[in-house]
Amino acid sequence: MILNNFVVFEGIDGAGTSTQLKILKSRPESSKIDFSAEPTDCETGKFLRQVLGGKVELDPKTTAYLFAADRAEHVYGKNGIINSIKNNKAVIIDRYLFSSLAYQGVSCGKELPRKLNEGFPLPQILFFFDIAPEKSLTRIKSRDVTEIYENNEYLTQTRKQYLDVIEEYKNLESAKDMKIIMIDATQSVEEISKIIWSHISKLPIFNS
Ligand code: TYD
Repeated sequence: MILNNFVVFEGIDGAGTSTQLKILKSRPESSKIDFSAEPTDCETGKFLRQVLGGKVELDPKTTAYLFAADRAEHVYGKNGIINSIKNNKAVIIDRYLFSSLAYQGVSCGKELPRKLNEGFPLPQILFFFDIAPEKSLTRIKSRDVTEIYENNEYLTQTRKQYLDVIEEYKNLESAKDMKIIMIDATQSVEEISKIIWSHISKLPIFNS
């Protein structure tokens, strides 16, 4: 199922999705948009942050289940995505099930993340910020905290997995109405924000 007015940003760590979200939040039209991210601010998301920070070590399968549980609350919960859409808001989020298919696809194989994520609704637009890990890693090196996936080898595999997953979705009947926009994430911040707005401004919510 595709949810109208639902938009997802994806990419490997350091691809620049957060910067673009910040720009969108400062637009006057943002009053019609609910913004959020995964992992969420719920307890599941907080626990996942500990896992990502290396404080808690789990079997990769457990991590895949936890991301799916966190997502279930994000989608179906009281203040979740479905309710925002019902309340006539657009929803734009940083990371969604494609992150699980890519990152957990690398750590525990494709099968489990696919199974855990097959029931979730799909966005009307998926933006994929594509960048080589060598470049994205130089962007995140300046941060204080590094997370378990933030290394060249892991992100190289994750990027490949993302690209495979996107190819699969392009050919999927149930995803034929999901628009996939590939962004060259090495372009300037301004250039990327123009491209993004050219697509988001066409959402039904801004044209009714
Ligand atoms: P990120 O979105 O980059 O946030 P921050 O900039 O605050 O670190 O980090 C989230 C990490 O979680 C990122 O490395 C990808 C990972 N992740 C998964 O492995 N699976 C998932 O399903 C999701 C949503 C995120």
